[in-house]
Amino acid sequence: MKAVALKRYLPIANPESLLDVDLPRPAPQGRDLLVAVKAIAVNPVDTKVRAPKDKVEDTPRVLGWDAAGVVEAIGADVTGFKVGDQVFYAGDITRPGSNSEFQLVDERIVGHAPASLSVEQAAALPLTAITAWEALFERLRVPRKAEAASGKAPSILIIGGAGGVGSIAIQLAAKVAGLNVIATASRPESEKWVRELGAQQVINHFGDIPAQLKGIGFEQVDHVLILNDTDKHFPAAAQVIAPQGTIATIVENSAPLDVSLLKAKSAGFVWEFMFTRSMFQTPDMGEQGKLLNEIAALIDRGVLRTTLSKVLSPINAANLRQAHADLEGGRVIGKIVLKDF
Ligand SMILES: NC(=O)c1ccc[n+]([C@@H]2O[C@H](COP(=O)([O-])OP(=O)(O)OC[C@H]3O[C@@H](n4cnc5c(N)ncnc54)[C@H](OP(=O)(O)O)[C@@H]3O)[C@@H](O)[C@H]2O)c1
Repeated sequence: MKAVALKRYLPIANPESLLDVDLPRPAPQGRDLLVAVKAIAVNPVDTKVRAPKDKVEDTPRVLGWDAAGVVEAIGADVTGFKVGDQVFYAGDITRPGSNSEFQLVDERIVGHAPASLSVEQAAALPLTAITAWEALFERLRVPRKAEAASGKAPSILIIGGAGGVGSIAIQLAAKVAGLNVIATASRPESEKWVRELGAQQVINHFGDIPAQLKGIGFEQVDHVLILNDTDKHFPAAAQVIAPQGTIATIVENSAPLDVSLLKAKSAGFVWEFMFTRSMFQTPDMGEQGKLLNEIAALIDRGVLRTTLSKVLSPINAANLRQAHADLEGGRVIGKIVLKDF
């Protein structure tokens, strides 16, 4: 089968950083699906795993953790899918990724693709939707709209609003949870994008966040979701979080964070890592398949929209190098997807 893989960890400008290779097609066992991959999305995790280092792989390593495709074959213990089903999923960071014509993935972390989307529109969603959903509804414990108390909508500050995760987090927070969403964006085009997705107020992540919030009438916010540069944004988040509120981040810090800043407010701090469930094979890993099905239903009902912003075709090393380079630039709006091998 065709695949794009690496053997050495090189800067993306090096033509050998990602290579077109031919690999044996795997066979499904147990709860695995064998999926014929039709479209893939790229994520910063791909560039972080690919980051230059001295290590050399004995066999080509396939990256990529976002796909939409069709079930080609199933393992003996699969119960939720049949051959021919259209699926979308992020996969498991400890296994080969989706940048190959066929991929094995555990059925518990797979969703049925939204019927109303094209394969490239569907591929844009899984990794970021799982991340945003788990961050909002499981880590921050934001109630869904139906469960929310009436009265003034609670507020959330989403730092890094126009990126892949922000683009779906804004929609979930505004349209599913009914929160007042204040998103950050630094350019006219990213500001326009986050407003279209449901952000009610927009401030700039390169400016003074507490001062800008005050300027638009918010002394404090009920929730903060940090989607970029935790080192820089944590102190501001601690300053603006409401007493007894919670801050969630999805981005690793490089220096220690001063959680004592949260003590007087009894404020909480929580991590979201969307690979936790598959990495540790937690008993509830099937929640990811369920939430992907809920995302698909929300898309098909017109509550949410895809976050796709750019399509490259075919899926090959040259196009993937381009997509990685774009992501490393830190200015992507929405999601870049590659389609067809
Ligand atoms: N823990 C997890 O499970 C998990 C899951 C997914 C992603 N992540 C991590 O989360 C981060 C974001 O992922 P993503 O896919 O959303 O990335 P992305 O799509 O590459 O994000 C690009 C956006 O980041 C914004 N941005 C750039 N510099 C910023 C800064 N200093 N502060 C705030 N925003 C800034 C830009 O907005 P402007 O153009 O408006 O400046 C741009 O639109 C990455 O580090 C990724 O590895 C973690």
